[in-house]
Amino acid sequence: MSPDAAIDVSNLGKSYGSVTAIRGVSFTVRPGEIFGLLGPNGAGKSTTLRILITVLPPSSGTATVLGHNVTTEADTVRRLIGYVPQERAIDRFLTGREHLELLGNLYHLPRRELRSRIDELLQLVDLGAQADRVAKTYSGGMKRKLDIACGLLPNPRIVFLDEPTLGLDVHSRLRIWEHIRQLRERGITIVMTTNYLDEADRLCDRLAILDGGVVRAIGSPMELKAGVGGDSVSLTIGDRDADVLHRLRDGVMALPFVRDARPTSTGLDIRAESPEKSLPAVLDVAHRLNCRVEGIEYHRPRLDDVFVAHTGHAIKGEYPDDGEA
Ligand SMILES: Nc1ncnc2c1ncn2[C@@H]1O[C@H](COP(=O)(O)OP(=O)(O)OP(=O)(O)O)[C@@H](O)[C@H]1O
Ligand SMILES: [Mg+2]
Repeated sequence: MSPDAAIDVSNLGKSYGSVTAIRGVSFTVRPGEIFGLLGPNGAGKSTTLRILITVLPPSSGTATVLGHNVTTEADTVRRLIGYVPQERAIDRFLTGREHLELLGNLYHLPRRELRSRIDELLQLVDLGAQADRVAKTYSGGMKRKLDIACGLLPNPRIVFLDEPTLGLDVHSRLRIWEHIRQLRERGITIVMTTNYLDEADRLCDRLAILDGGVVRAIGSPMELKAGVGGDSVSLTIGDRDADVLHRLRDGVMALPFVRDARPTSTGLDIRAESPEKSLPAVLDVAHRLNCRVEGIEYHRPRLDDVFVAHTGHAIKGEYPDDGEA
């Protein structure tokens, strides 16, 4: 366990009856960072988060938040954190401000302090102008902002956000990212879950890739991408004969700068360094073998490559449906 960690998770496991939701999950969150749990549906993100906010007891392992054990010191942990759940709990008949007032009374915040704090939070999430409108008239993005303001009301040192931009349109997502970055500027540590690759890449300082209840990789987006080892070249080949594809694969694998090559349903996926040198050589092999190259796609490693490299499959949900704004 590292002494200056904001959160330390060690070998955490949780089963719901016969369903193992997470097992052997370990990671550390540093103070003041935006830490992401990235994974597809059912990966165990919400389960991990709910253990950390003390509403779910772990089946095994330990977790500490600001040095306090989530099981044995749950009350202390709760006083230090804020939580924005995956499912929104907005009451349709109250205004945005009334939601915050109600919650402030639950937290027993003094009246005067509460009023100024609510004004400050409404401003932070850019809801000042809509504060006195009934929440049922809010768009999806506005409801999510109100959720975030609710999570911040107790003035937490760590905020947990479960899928903060799920189902929002592109514009609303960017606004929410801005608000989350502002929290970091205020020194608040953020732990969030997401199944959006671009969100993990652009917003998180570090992340853990979670799949099937297991942590597959941890690092900053840049570290993770560097770890993939080489750029990605996808060849689309016409007349795909299995024998030809295998000979193409063998020819490409024999080239310098090529780290890996795998036949796919449409051609060949190659991992290579130095595109200036590897691309002409790859095309030359294809030419010698009489392969008709119909397409070639090249890119530097992206987080989707990282995900595939560590899990063996693609993540779903990188492009959200346009939800309500
Ligand atoms: N209360 C529960 N009872 C039984 N099984 C559960 C319960 N909650 C979660 N699970 C199971 O545990 C696994 C992990 O679920 P979890 O909600 O943590 O995933 P997630 O990564 O948050 O997924 P999503 O992206 O869909 O929110 C899944 O297989 C899920 O079906
Ligand atoms: Mg979830």
